[in-house]
Amino acid sequence: MTTTNNIPRDGRLNSPWQKGILIPGDDKKKVRPENTYDCLIVGGGITGLTAAVLLQNEGYNTIVADANTIGFGTTGGTSAHINTFADTNYKEAASAFGEEGAKLFAEAINEGFDLIRSNIDKYKIDCDFETKPGFVYAETDKELSFLEDMFEGAVKVGVPVEYIEDVPTPVKYIKALKWDGQAQFHPVKYLKGLQEAYIAAGGVIAENTLVEGVTNEDGVLIAKTSENAYRARNVIYATHMPPNINVINFEAAPYRSYVVAVKLKSDAYPDALVYDCQEPYHYIRTHVIDGEKLLLVGGADHKTGHGDPEKAFADLEEYIRKYYDVASVEYQWSSQYYIPADGFPYIGQLPFAADGIFCASGYNGNGMMLGSIAGKILSDLVSKRSSKYEKAFSPARIKPIDSFTEFVKENADVAYRFVADRFNVDEIDTLKDLPNDTGKVVEVDGKKVAAYRDEQGKIHVLNPVCTHAGCIVAWNGEEKSWDCPCHGARYDINGKVLTGPTTRDLPAINIA
Ligand code: FES
Repeated sequence: MTTTNNIPRDGRLNSPWQKGILIPGDDKKKVRPENTYDCLIVGGGITGLTAAVLLQNEGYNTIVADANTIGFGTTGGTSAHINTFADTNYKEAASAFGEEGAKLFAEAINEGFDLIRSNIDKYKIDCDFETKPGFVYAETDKELSFLEDMFEGAVKVGVPVEYIEDVPTPVKYIKALKWDGQAQFHPVKYLKGLQEAYIAAGGVIAENTLVEGVTNEDGVLIAKTSENAYRARNVIYATHMPPNINVINFEAAPYRSYVVAVKLKSDAYPDALVYDCQEPYHYIRTHVIDGEKLLLVGGADHKTGHGDPEKAFADLEEYIRKYYDVASVEYQWSSQYYIPADGFPYIGQLPFAADGIFCASGYNGNGMMLGSIAGKILSDLVSKRSSKYEKAFSPARIKPIDSFTEFVKENADVAYRFVADRFNVDEIDTLKDLPNDTGKVVEVDGKKVAAYRDEQGKIHVLNPVCTHAGCIVAWNGEEKSWDCPCHGARYDINGKVLTGPTTRDLPAINIA
């Protein structure tokens, strides 16, 4: 395994995107807390930086705050496929939102794609961007009907696609589609380019700055951060889940996706983006980093906190070895994405929040295009321009869930404080066999605790009750994190927040 790690990410495993990348530094000292910024953008991934560059270049005075560092979250862990098709296929989009809705969705996907390309040209971003054909193939009759739906839906919305006989895959398939003009890039190099463009336009980035919440004081939004308070006329939460409990918790569900990058013994690397139709599907592409080819194979997705990360990697590796002559496994990592309840992303004014507080979530597996178009839509909304996507992607399009307050109440029942907050580890049988560098939720005196044995054999114990809304976290043995199965909050082995919607760490429990 490669251990070089130049920029951090939200998990213990390294992705190839972190290697050798030096992101321009933090500008926190340039922040003027006494200023009222036109827009505070929370989150330094593709959505946040796309919006930030657009707004700053229009003359708005903006600031980007990230709880960690640029590229720490999902953009730093994506497999970076850029497509003209989407996980919600255009036929599904038409049946949920009508023909016009499906056309609009296709326009959003394609406009997001074009925005990436135009940013690369405009800001001369060197990010390994390459155009490749894309292939999707079906191996069974059931998958064939899905493939036919994909084809039919795409033709109806005018996205070019064709049936093809010859797919660059060793897998036996029945029928396949070809999508010309797909693309791939190095996502962190792209972010670095956006960051440089933003700073050149006068933008300010505050890393390691957690925005805990926003209040409205006489028409000005006050964002309370870990160290300070920022004043802004608008706030964009480009964090998938806005902090604390809100309607997005019910509209988008967190999933983990896994990627394994291998070197092959031969040169059988496909010069294309290739997808099967299994559930969950596999996605394959080749990327050259530092002159070395890597085959990237992704898939084995499951809901956060519900699956077995170790098995997910084992399944992926078995899948690759079945079809390719693997010389070595170079990287394996996982990343989080959010599946929307009805198939469309949620981009716009955050329901039940003060005017001017915006959010973006539910990109499914299409975060590069939808994150980019979200940046554009949100910059339009901040600028008070109309956006043709505003209504279709509005986070308020689903009627508020009646059980909202009930949900909070139900979970509050579980959100106990650990009263007997001192216990003797030696007396707990279940911890005796816990291997080093492993975690487990165990019961002590009828209460659950999250216990982790470090590499030296020392036990560390946390309250396992997620500080967002009270679910019990689950151990992720691959990324060495505690993952919440409810809305995807994640914490490191010390309880520090890695991923929202929570803003509060898991409290440590004293042990004798
Ligand atoms: Fe909502 Fe944990 S993320 S309860």
